[in-house]
Amino acid sequence: MKQDLIVILDLGSHENSALARQIRALGVYSEIHPHDIKADELRALPNVKGIILNGGENNVIDGEKIDVRPEILSLGLPVLALNHGTDCVTGEISDEALSAFLFGTCKCEKNWNMKNFVEDQVELLRRQIGDRRVLLALSGGVDSSVVAALLIRAIGKQLVCVHVNHGLLRKGEPEEVVRVFRDELGAELIYVDAVDRFLDKLAGVEDPEKKRKIIGAEFIEVFNDEAAKLSGTVDFLGQGTIYPDIVESGTKTAKAVKAHHNVGGLPEHMKFELVEPLKYLFKDEVRACGKELGLPDSMVYRQPFPGPGLGVRCLGAITRDRLEAVRESDAILREEFAKNGLEGKVWQYFTLIPDTRSVGVRNNARSFEWPVIIRAVNTIDAMTAEIEHIDWALLDHITRRILNEVKGVNRVCYDLSPKPTGTIEWE
Ligand code: XMP
Repeated sequence: MKQDLIVILDLGSHENSALARQIRALGVYSEIHPHDIKADELRALPNVKGIILNGGENNVIDGEKIDVRPEILSLGLPVLALNHGTDCVTGEISDEALSAFLFGTCKCEKNWNMKNFVEDQVELLRRQIGDRRVLLALSGGVDSSVVAALLIRAIGKQLVCVHVNHGLLRKGEPEEVVRVFRDELGAELIYVDAVDRFLDKLAGVEDPEKKRKIIGAEFIEVFNDEAAKLSGTVDFLGQGTIYPDIVESGTKTAKAVKAHHNVGGLPEHMKFELVEPLKYLFKDEVRACGKELGLPDSMVYRQPFPGPGLGVRCLGAITRDRLEAVRESDAILREEFAKNGLEGKVWQYFTLIPDTRSVGVRNNARSFEWPVIIRAVNTIDAMTAEIEHIDWALLDHITRRILNEVKGVNRVCYDLSPKPTGTIEWE
């Protein structure tokens, strides 16, 4: 093992993530574990150099006082007790005090970096999985792509990836997943063309929430069909769970904010053990891990993309021709943003098409075609958002390209609404 580890035990503090990041910023790897971890479980963690008991203003949860198991304190490891609100007046421990504990008391080395993280994870994954097989739903999003790359490095052909193309992906995405994972990284990849299956189920459905539910439920069905074919030959399910998913779903001591389901709803009889190698990483660290594993920037720095994909950007009942026009116009917008240095600078940008047409002229004749709406926003946490002030000449150029190259479109509009009042997506 390359990395030293500091274990933070969650005694009801709201500052666990901040503390983990502070320790990592000082060059030492840290993980957050529940306050009632057993001594055996703690001993099984690799290279533990010290423990921090991270308490809140009173270590009471739901009226019950919580504490660590006494045996934890007799493991012979250095222990630092923090009590936010009393010991740490500002809610934070200073870097100096923390460094004294890490490097003075625990004798840690500054060996937290992505190269070491990857090497350690590869070793841990090999130990956990042995010669058995892992199944992974590979969407092409950052998290599942990084998990796939890490598992390919660790266990190669023992990984089986399933990529479900639901017809709502952006232009070039399914092809890129196959090219990178099957052709370049040599993964065992099952590509499922489920386009008709999804679009048939969605035909005529106008309500945005119903559309979302159909897409989510159908995804699980398609994935289950594939998993069932492999059932008995696969023991593990890989998941791109990352640390914020765990925090938001509620740790043992934190109340659940939002239930995150990565691959929810697998049938009871399919018993898989979970493999979640990114579950202690924050998003920026997941990206760094992807870079370390050699994934292309187009995957590692992908802008956020909703699970229901272009399905929520082809407003109202989805039709194949309008969906194609959304996909083509979105590709033009992305290409122009990349050419003009806006990729990675603007938080999220895309096109959408409402379910309405307007009158225009084309080749001296009346046309009755759709408008394309461009949305480009900046935000910190997606709770509020401001529009990007796109250069007028660029907007003009993008408009002309869309009108010339995308079939069935006679107008381009720019959405000037901040959030609130508009959400980022239109559905
Ligand atoms: P809104 O539209 O609520 O979106 O302002 C905030 C952010 O969340 C993304 N989004 C989704 N992501 N499943 C997802 O995985 C969804 O159903 C979904 N709806 C919105 C949206 O793209 C934006 O980044």
